[in-house]
Amino acid sequence: MALRSKLIAGNWKMNGLRAPGLALARDIAARAAAGSPACDLLVCPPATLVILVGEAIAGSGIALGGQDCHPKENGACTGDVSAEMLKDAGCSHVILGHSERRSGCGETDATVNAKVAAAWRAGLTAVVCVGETRAEREAGLATAVVSAQLSGSLPAGATADNLVVAYEPVWAIGTGLTPTLDDIAAIHAVMRTALPPQTRMLYGGSVNPGNAREILSLGDVDGALVGGASLKADDFWAIAEACR
Ligand code: PGA
Repeated sequence: MALRSKLIAGNWKMNGLRAPGLALARDIAARAAAGSPACDLLVCPPATLVILVGEAIAGSGIALGGQDCHPKENGACTGDVSAEMLKDAGCSHVILGHSERRSGCGETDATVNAKVAAAWRAGLTAVVCVGETRAEREAGLATAVVSAQLSGSLPAGATADNLVVAYEPVWAIGTGLTPTLDDIAAIHAVMRTALPPQTRMLYGGSVNPGNAREILSLGDVDGALVGGASLKADDFWAIAEACR
């Protein structure tokens, strides 16, 4: 079987005004254009910057993604963005089911499932996030929670081309804490059995230039979803280089 190339994805979250966002995008694009990156690259800026960042990275080989989409194509949904709009704005990917949306916006597996279907309808690759809370891990439920989230969040029709899964333990996001390598490997091994062959599986949660290489060396870890460290070009690039 073909080897899965690694993917380093930057989730900018609700960060970035025009000038610094453009500067960050141009910096990363220049590095990508200058050499051959060690991995596939994806940046997911806030909705206000999607088109601008898309223009800044054009021709660099870096892919563009949104951070969420509405299940519907259009309509009376004030404040929302559809998958078709993201596609039209130049996106190839969209992050769905991030824990900050599951906990902060009340998204259930059913919500995420409908959004993944919308992403596929629009021709986007869905980057679906799953992960347990600290209490769930301490109760020994991490594997069960992740398995249930996967089966609930994915409609029929998943393929290695339309889906990327990111394992992001909630307690590791933005905290500087990470699971042990054994724990990451164990969850990824379980996910592997539940997903179509060759589906890329990322790890996310406090990935930084210091821990990226050992995490990315795990056999079933096909890349990283990077939050805080994706806002600094040096750090994001160092994580990408750790794929070599
Ligand atoms: P972090 O965020 O790298 O800042 O922990 C990861 C994410 O939420 O995707």
